[in-house]
This record gives sequence, structure tokens and C-alpha cells, in this order.
Amino acid sequence: MEKKRIFLTRRLHDFALKELKEKYHVEVHSGKIPIPKSKLRSKIKDIDGLICFPYDRIDSELIETAKNLKVISTYSVGFDHIDTRCAKKNKIRVGYTPKVLTDATADLAFSLMTDILRRVSEGDRIIRSGRWTVIYGAYDYVGWDLQGKTLGIFGLGRIGSTLAKRANAFDMKIIYHNRKPIPKSMEKKLNVRYATFDKLISNSDIISIHVPHTEHTDKLFDKKIFAKMKRTAFLVNTARGKIINEKDLVEALKKKTIAGAALDVFEKEPIDKNHPLTKLQNVVLAPHIGSSTEETRTKMAQLTVKNLNLGINGKKPIYSVGY
Ligand code: DGY
Repeated sequence: MEKKRIFLTRRLHDFALKELKEKYHVEVHSGKIPIPKSKLRSKIKDIDGLICFPYDRIDSELIETAKNLKVISTYSVGFDHIDTRCAKKNKIRVGYTPKVLTDATADLAFSLMTDILRRVSEGDRIIRSGRWTVIYGAYDYVGWDLQGKTLGIFGLGRIGSTLAKRANAFDMKIIYHNRKPIPKSMEKKLNVRYATFDKLISNSDIISIHVPHTEHTDKLFDKKIFAKMKRTAFLVNTARGKIINEKDLVEALKKKTIAGAALDVFEKEPIDKNHPLTKLQNVVLAPHIGSSTEETRTKMAQLTVKNLNLGINGKKPIYSVGY
């Protein structure tokens, strides 16, 4: 029997490719990243399975072209890049990789928060540019304590809850906003208090974003929201760049409407080296590394392959969107 055909929009770990090649006819895109849409269109036509990444836009036009496709398996927890409604309509399974990256992403959010409050990256920039010339002044490079600060978690799901555990160990006060409050017993366990969205915005010393990018959260954090935040507040984003209106954020940071921001995700990635955010000292920037640890990326690759194996055989992936 002829092997099923799969296509990867980029290389995955060697162990994953080895397993895939034993089972399928495998083709891996090399060259420009993200893969140009025209190339993906020509490939998706004949394949049974697709492995993609969070920057590949798998829209309805591509999905409708795919006559044999049984599964789209994305190497990410986010699936806002896939038209999942159209996939479902065409009986194509969509697999994704939650849970395995929860700790790594919460750790990064916590690291970014610590970095921006204690000005670690800023200090690194000061040293590297030869501006550290006098030691230990009373007002030099002072940051802020985490202890006693109010952390506002926007989206208390898996990653938000794990961040809450980290923050409790640092004696922070934690408030959160979800569409619906979590059960009281969970609130007690996590030592968190529910807040309306407005209260979360106005009462937090640090706001950390942990919601998906949807039509409801698109550019939600804009100048109106920044104006309601404390002037001393910081914004941390490890979710999706498009949840923030970047132009408004730059203005707010320049005018000191808010104190600073620590960002792992951007409207357009990679961010340009001349982007206005790169010129600001009250900002920490990371290159979308929320899940990027040896251990986590290995688990994500294993899960991506498992999801593909199930979906290609008409079964529900371990983590599956909608269908
Ligand atoms: C994901 O998996 O969607 C994350 O953005 C990776 O860090």
C-alpha cells in the first residue's frame, strides 16, 4: 500500500522526522520562513497530513484546496493561525500542544516580570554600552520589589494559574479576570481574587496577559486601557502580540502613561530591529520563546507527531480543536 503523504512547513526535531519517515512519505519545506502561501497552496492539494507552526496562516482558501487532508497538527498551543471552523466543515482534524508548555510559558512570564521590575536587561544594556561608570549610588538603577505588588492575571487558565503559583511564592497579591470566575475552592487554592476587567486594569501593578487572540481580544490593550492603568504599572505579554495595539503601547511607554512592558510576542514577528519598541529603555523584549526549553520543545514535537498520527487515521488527536 502506498504511504500517506505529509508535509511540514519547517524542520522538526530529528527524532520526530525519523518516526514520521518510517510511516509516511514526508516532505519538509526548506527556504524562506514562513513558507510562501503559493508554495503551501501547491503542496496542500495532495497531502493527507500537515504539520505547521504558529506563524503559518492556514486560512479557508488553503483548506478548501486540500482535497485529501485529514489532519492539521500545529507545533503550538495557539491555533489562531488556523481557520478551525473551515477545517471542521471539511472534516479535517486540528491537533495542538497544550499542557506540555504550561510551566515553561509561566516561567517566562514570571522571568519577564522580574526582569522589567528589577531592570536586569536594562542593566545589561547599560554595561555593554559602557555607561556603567560609577558604582552603587543611592538612586542608581533602582527597580521595584515584587513582594506586596498586585499581579493582575488576564486569563486564569492553565498558564495563568501556574503563574499565580509562582507569584504566591514571592508574596504577591493576585487578582484575575476571566469571562467567568473560577470555582471558589480553586480561588482559595491558588490564593487569587476575581476582579472585573476594569478593576483588573486599574488596580494591578503588573498585568500579565494569558488569553488567546480572538476577535474579542484583538488589539484590546489600546490607549484607552493604558490610560486606565496605574502610571507605575507594567504590562507583560507572553500570549499573542495582536492582543496589544503596539502603536498605542509605544506612545504610552514614551509618555510614561505606564511604567514599562515586557514582551515575548509582537504584532509582526520577528520584530524589526528598528521598531520603536527597541529604542525604549523601559521595555524588555524576547524573541517569542515562551515554550522554548529543551524539555518542552521535545514534548511538543512528540505531541505534534502523535496528534498527526491519530488524525491522519481518522481518529481524534490527543488535543484537538472542535472536532
Ligand atoms: C504557542 O505554542 O502557541 C506559543 O506561542 C509558543 O511559545
